[in-house]
Amino acid sequence: MEILSDAKKLKELKKCSTDPVYFISNYIKVVHPIFGLVKFELYPFQKNLVTEFKNNRFNILRKFRQAGCTTLVAAYSLWKCIFTDHFKVVILSKDDDASMEVLSRMKTAYDELPTWMKRGLVKDSAHSMKFDNGSEIKSKSSSKQSGRSVAGSLLILDEAAFIENIDTIWAAAFPIISTGGSVIALSTVNGVGNWFHKQYVGARRGENTFHAIDISWKDHPQYHRHAGYEFMYEKLKAQDPPIDIDKWEATTRGAISHKEWLQEYEAEFLGTGDTFIDGEILKQLKEQVNDNFSTKFNNRLRVWQGPDPRFDYIIGVDTSIGRGLDSSVAQVINLYNGEQVAEFKSDRTPINEFANMLVQIAREYNTAYIIPERNLIGHNLIYQIKEIEQYENLFLDEKHEPGIQVADANKRQMLVQLDEAIRLNKIKINSERTIDELLTFIIDEVGRYTADVNCHDDLIMALSFAVFGFNELRGSTPMIQHRPNDDNKFNLPISQSKYYIRTPGGQIHEEDLKWLLS
Ligand SMILES: Nc1ncnc2c1ncn2[C@@H]1O[C@H](COP(=O)(O)OP(=O)(O)OP(=O)(O)O)[C@@H](O)[C@H]1O
Ligand SMILES: [Mg+2]
Repeated sequence: MEILSDAKKLKELKKCSTDPVYFISNYIKVVHPIFGLVKFELYPFQKNLVTEFKNNRFNILRKFRQAGCTTLVAAYSLWKCIFTDHFKVVILSKDDDASMEVLSRMKTAYDELPTWMKRGLVKDSAHSMKFDNGSEIKSKSSSKQSGRSVAGSLLILDEAAFIENIDTIWAAAFPIISTGGSVIALSTVNGVGNWFHKQYVGARRGENTFHAIDISWKDHPQYHRHAGYEFMYEKLKAQDPPIDIDKWEATTRGAISHKEWLQEYEAEFLGTGDTFIDGEILKQLKEQVNDNFSTKFNNRLRVWQGPDPRFDYIIGVDTSIGRGLDSSVAQVINLYNGEQVAEFKSDRTPINEFANMLVQIAREYNTAYIIPERNLIGHNLIYQIKEIEQYENLFLDEKHEPGIQVADANKRQMLVQLDEAIRLNKIKINSERTIDELLTFIIDEVGRYTADVNCHDDLIMALSFAVFGFNELRGSTPMIQHRPNDDNKFNLPISQSKYYIRTPGGQIHEEDLKWLLS
């Protein structure tokens, strides 16, 4: 080992005190599952995480399995304690053993430090490590009382989606932490509706103090090929049996169920059995997500297919006030094949501007049929569309009034139609945002179809209006409908022989119409 002069040591201490990435990468050692005890050379995404932790007091990190996050947070805490006097870290994990395990990682890292870098330890027990500068790291069990004793500078909630009593703990801890402390809550996902899910979703919407961070398995050089890591890929290849980085995804997916893959590695907040749309179908929808869209109106409109002169289109519309609460949403659907061709979403667009854009979209899509909700704000929108924008092609209800009046009973009916349209593949949803809303759209305790706590349903409602209009038009117009393509290539139905036929009773039947073509 290199012998350092006192001057060099002092220089190193100074550098480490201001640069956690330098400190961790040069002085901390970790146990790698394959390579054993190694220097903790941070991957680029881990360096970014350190910057996020430094810049934000409340962090919520959604991660995949074995991402290297617990170890990173442990190393960061150690840096804080060594170089800041009287810094207190409290670790809470899913149970006492798991919390102690995080603390023990810090101890391993501390033990490996050169003596001149260490602080004196004044206490070293299974639940605590106290330094001579007054800093301390404690691990706590997740009992309901734990929230009261978190008086700390940094609270770590590891595997937060799995911590029992976390709602109670957080309610007690928040007033203490908010007066100057900081929080890192990190977890793999564990379905919807728990504290972690709610806080994460709230953070993404800017509704709480948390800063949301996502890391993807593709950011991690051990799971996805990254330039500059060839040495590591060679070492993995030399293992017995050899590990091929390019096969990691296929091998891992092959070993676990699709739902496990989505949850553990794609960090999807999958609904449990109570989602409105069946879980199996949600999975398929998720696989069909189409990221290949262009945008318009300052990213508010996503376009998968431009207007095609051969087709007619319908636009389902859900309106909001445009002041950052709910969103104003429009779903543009191809009336011929049910494909979602464009989607508008904005929580900051005033009604008049929304009406104007809507009419521009409708005109572009071959004078599309607009079907808006006729509630309080909807009235205003309809007025803008008709009177100001002079656009006439609006859905008329049985009373010949434009738009649809939504009440509990017909809302339910429209949602059932949406479910049917999805199940029978009558519509093709391209948008990930829409599918994400479906993932948190649930049947609650009293049987209502509703967005989960802190979740939204604007895209779903607009889509259900479009499907309702679609069915109304289909019901009154004898038409042949073909199955939407799954490969995004547009085929005219004439190139196919299997068709879905709507019979007078409203049933859909698959029929072979080859005879028609011969
Ligand atoms: N930059 C790195 N270099 C080498 N090894 C690393 C690095 N980052 C993490 N590791 C190792 O990777 C493994 C996984 O890390 P860690 O346990 O921190 O991940 P995690 O995201 O908390 O995983 P889990 O989902 O199991 O909680 C550990 O053995 C850790 O020591
Ligand atoms: Mg962990």
